[in-house]
Amino acid sequence: MSKKLFIKTWGCQMNVYDSKKMADILASLGYASVEKPDDADLMILNTCHIREKATEKVFSDLGRLREHKQAKAAKGQKALIAVAGCVAQAEGDVILQRAKYVDMVFGPQTYHLLPEMILNATGDRRVVNTDFPAETKFDHLPEDSVSQGPSAFLSVQEGCDKFCTFCVVPYTRGAEFSRPPQQVLEEAKRIVDQGTKEITLLGQNVNAYHGIDAAGATWDLARLIAAIAELKGPERIRYMTSHPRDMNDDLIAAHRDIAKLMPFLHLPVQSGSDRVLELMNRKHTAAEYLEIIAKLKQARPDLALSSDFIVGFPGETDADHQATLELVRQVNFASCYSFKYSPRPGTPGAVMGGVVPEDVKDVRLQELQTILFDQQRGYNQHSVGKIMPVLFDRKGQKAGQLLGKTPYMQSVYVDAPQRLFGKIVDVRIDKATQNGTAGTIVTTEETLNPSHERTAA
Ligand code: SAH
Ligand code: SF4
Ligand code: F3S
Repeated sequence: MSKKLFIKTWGCQMNVYDSKKMADILASLGYASVEKPDDADLMILNTCHIREKATEKVFSDLGRLREHKQAKAAKGQKALIAVAGCVAQAEGDVILQRAKYVDMVFGPQTYHLLPEMILNATGDRRVVNTDFPAETKFDHLPEDSVSQGPSAFLSVQEGCDKFCTFCVVPYTRGAEFSRPPQQVLEEAKRIVDQGTKEITLLGQNVNAYHGIDAAGATWDLARLIAAIAELKGPERIRYMTSHPRDMNDDLIAAHRDIAKLMPFLHLPVQSGSDRVLELMNRKHTAAEYLEIIAKLKQARPDLALSSDFIVGFPGETDADHQATLELVRQVNFASCYSFKYSPRPGTPGAVMGGVVPEDVKDVRLQELQTILFDQQRGYNQHSVGKIMPVLFDRKGQKAGQLLGKTPYMQSVYVDAPQRLFGKIVDVRIDKATQNGTAGTIVTTEETLNPSHERTAA
C-alpha cells in the first residue's frame, strides 16, 4: 500500500518547483501526493520567509498538522512532520525548540537528501539539515513522475549575491548558482515530451544566469533561451525573476528575435527614488531602469511589463514616494505586486534609521495601488476586441469552462470543451476586469477539427 504525502507550499515559484521535485523524489519511495493532511504519513510545509509573520503562520499550520499526527498515533501509526523552505533555513532551531513534535527541518538546498533524512526521522531521530552542500540537489533530480501540465516551471538558477538590504533570499537560498546548460536542456526536453507547451525558466535572479557547458564556455540567459527555443516542443518561453542590472543587450535582443519568447517581462524596480534605491542597495537608478524599459520596448514594442514595489523602506520620505508614483506613471505597467516594507531579522534594512510608521506605509501603499490597479484594469480593457492565442492551462471552476493565458500573461476565462485543455487556441477577448479577462473561441477550421489544431503540428 502506498504512503500518503501532503505538501503545503508558500512563497515564490521556486518553492512551487521545489515542492514538485520533492513529490517526485518521494514518489520513488512509494509516497503518493494527497490534497489534505488527513491520514498523511508525511506532511511537509514548504515555507517562505520573505515578509513578516512568516514564522507565526508556520506555527499556526504546525498546530493543525499536530492533530493529524496525534490522530494517526491513536491508530498506532506514525506520521512525520517536516518544515522545509526558507523559514526552515532561517529559523530551523526555533522551530525544533518550540514544536517538539516536528520531526524534520531542512533547507532548500538539501531536498536530494530526503530519502536518508526520512529514514533517520522514522527511526525517531529528529533531523535538521540547513547546510549548503557542495554537490547540488540538481545533480540528483529524479525523472518527473507526472506531467507538469501545459505550463511548467524549470529552475535554472538559484540563490542571490545581490544583497538588497531588505531581502532574506541571499541568506536563505545561499550564493548564486547556475545549472549547466546541458542539464537544463535535458530537463526541458523531458518536460515537453510529457506535453508541456510553456516553460518558465526560474531563478531568484534568473537573468544573472551564467551556466558553464561541457566545453567550459559560459552561457548567458539569452543563449539558453535561444537553445530552448530550438528544441522541438516548447511553444512559449518565459523567465522570472530578473534584476534590472542583469538585463544585458543580448537578452533585450532576444525579445526581438525569438518568437517563442513571450512578450511579457517581470522586472522589479522596488522604488522610483534614487535615494531609496541606493539605501536598498539596488545598484541602479530610476533613470537607468527607464532606459532599459525603453530599449526593451524598442526591441519588442508590444512588451507588457510588471514589477514589484516596496513602500515605506526606512528613510523613505514623501518626496521619494512621489518619485515612485511618477515612475509608475511613466512606465504604465500591465500588472504589479506591491508590498509594505517588512523588516527581516538579519538584513541591513532591519537596523536602519528612519523607520516609516505603519499608518504612513498604509497610505502610501494605497496611493500606489490605486495607480497600479488602474493601469492593470486599463491594460486588460485595452485588449477587449482583440484576438489572441490563449494557452488553456487550468480548468475553470464551472464545468465547461477553461482558463488560459494570453502571451501577455493575462488570465482568460473561456467557455470551452475540455479537449482543448493544454492547447493554444485563438480567443477573442470580450470582457476585462482588473484581474483578468473573459473571451470566446474564434471558431476556425483548426478549433472545429481537433486533428487540425495548430498545436497538434
Ligand atoms: N529576486 C527578485 C524578487 C525577490 S522577492 C528581485 O530581485 O526583485 C519578491 C519581492 O518581495 C521583491 O521584489 C520585493 O518587492 C518583495 N520583498 C522582498 N523583501 C521584502 C521585505 N523585507 N519587505 C517587503 N517586501 C519585500
Ligand atoms: Fe532579494 Fe535583491 Fe536578490 Fe532579488 S536581487 S533576491 S530582492 S537580494
Ligand atoms: Fe520566499 Fe524563499 Fe522564495 S523567502 S520568496 S520562498 S526564495
